[in-house]
Amino acid sequence: MSDVKITVSDNGPLIVNGEIQLLDGAGNPLTTKEATYLCRCGLSSNKPFCNGAHKGQFESVVRA
Ligand code: FES
Repeated sequence: MSDVKITVSDNGPLIVNGEIQLLDGAGNPLTTKEATYLCRCGLSSNKPFCNGAHKGQFESVVRA
């Protein structure tokens, strides 16, 4: 498996770049792409994926 990079976007999703396996709670694979956007605001109607519902509704800026 190639390198994977995860970026915590300002006021938005986790952006996962690279090939990953993403499984649901029963262990079944979810379809992912080269870039996968994972919701961290809890507002998406398409969890675990971001659907843009965070815009203007979620504030979180993470710095190392
Ligand atoms: S982070 Fe985008 S909808 Fe939750």
